Formats: sequence, C-alpha cells, structure tokens
Amino acid sequence: MGRTFFVGGNWKCNGTSEEIKKIVATLNAGQVPSQDVVEVVVSPPFVFLPLVKSELRSDFHVAAQNCWVKNGGAFTGEVSANMLVNLSIPWVILGHSERRAILGESNEFVGDKVAYALSQGLKVIACVGETLEQRESGSTMAVVAAQTKAIADRVKDWSNVVIAYEPVWAIGTGKVATPAQAQEVHAELRKWLQANVSAEVAASTRIIYGGSVSGANCKELAGQPDVDGFLVGGASLKPEFIDIIKAAE
Ligand code: G3H
Repeated sequence: MGRTFFVGGNWKCNGTSEEIKKIVATLNAGQVPSQDVVEVVVSPPFVFLPLVKSELRSDFHVAAQNCWVKNGGAFTGEVSANMLVNLSIPWVILGHSERRAILGESNEFVGDKVAYALSQGLKVIACVGETLEQRESGSTMAVVAAQTKAIADRVKDWSNVVIAYEPVWAIGTGKVATPAQAQEVHAELRKWLQANVSAEVAASTRIIYGGSVSGANCKELAGQPDVDGFLVGGASLKPEFIDIIKAAE
C-alpha cells in the first residue's frame, strides 16, 4: 500500500509576526513536488495559526503544536481541539517529547489527547521516542512500544494518524540518528503495529523521523524503506526546509 511522503515543520515557540511572514513567503516561493508525492504541514505557535493559514500556499497545510485533552471549559491557557476545528486547522502535533519531558505528559494522557483530537475530526502527528539513557540501556523499543500502545488502546481508526519517531537525544542536538538507526526503529514499530493493531494499519500508517533532520542528511534518511517522511524542527525555520521537502522525490 502506497504511503505518501510526509514532511512536517514544527516551528516550536519561535517567531514574531514579521519573521513568520518571511518564512511563509519563502515556502510560497519554493519549487516542490506535487501533493501526490509529498504532503507538507507546518506548525506555527497557536497565535500565528490564522496568519499562516491565510498566507500559506494552498498545497501546504497547517498544524497546531498541541491541544487540550477534552472539550473546552475552565482550563486556563489551553486550546481545545474543537477550537482548532472551528478555525479549519486540519492537523495537530501531540505527545512531542518536549511536552512529555517538561510538562510531564504521560503516555496515557497523550493517548487520551490523540483519541479526543481524532474524535473531533483533527488529523494527528503523534510523537514517540526514547531518551539517550533509555537507548543506552537497550530499552528503545520497549519505550516506543509503550508510548504507541497507549495510543493504540484508545484509537480504532488510524487513517488520520502519522507517527513521528523522534529520539530525544537527536532533537535539537545536531546528532541525527543514522539511517540504519532510524530504519531499525521504524521497522520495529511497523512490526509492532502489525502484531498489535492490524496488518493494514501497519502497511498504511506513515512513520516519520524527527531529530536534527537537515538539507544535508535528509536524502539518505528518506531512502530507508520504513522512513515515510520527517518532522523537522530547527531546519523548518530556514530555506533548507524546501530541500527537505524535495527529499520525497
Ligand atoms: O518536532 C521536531 C523535532 O523536535 C526535531 O527538532 O529538527 O530541531 O532536531 P530538530
């Protein structure tokens, strides 16, 4: 089953409206493969979502970087899935390791968020990944499987889910996983989906890699059979994001 290459740009907590407009102008001018070859989604901070949505080319889409675990109400500082739907924001990133580590989001909480966001009609980029300590102790797959299980326990329809494998030790460090390291975890994750969800979900779900992806290393990573795209942080704020999108070709 064909899996369309997927490139996400996570702008994290960066940018002024002037800087955001410049990034959008660069993206709008970029020559990239068509949407049947690569799906491109960029994720600005909440406050810039309407601006980016209105100025961004129509073949690229937008994602929020988070949303609340259930319906809105007395949850100061949160943004609900329903609000994103109301603004026609199609995607949301959930379970990013920065939120898991800094804000203490558990596997179960992330699973609940993914299920609720999907139930409201959002598409979800669900992040998983191990720390350096976990990798060095040989528990990479156990960690990634537990994170994925918390989602699988709550989600039946996987057609609007993209899994982002982001080893924590590779995020923002310049220390990218080797193509072999990325391929190994992606293949194991796909096997896990096959054994624990279904062969169809395993074959059709995009598993993208994140962690120090750049214009220089994207091509080799993209050549791995189970790497279906990227979730890009730092480099998504720069013109080289266009080169990363072109790795789909
Ligand atoms: O969501 C994106 C990841 O955290 C990767 O960030 O490309 O800056 O390492 P990075």
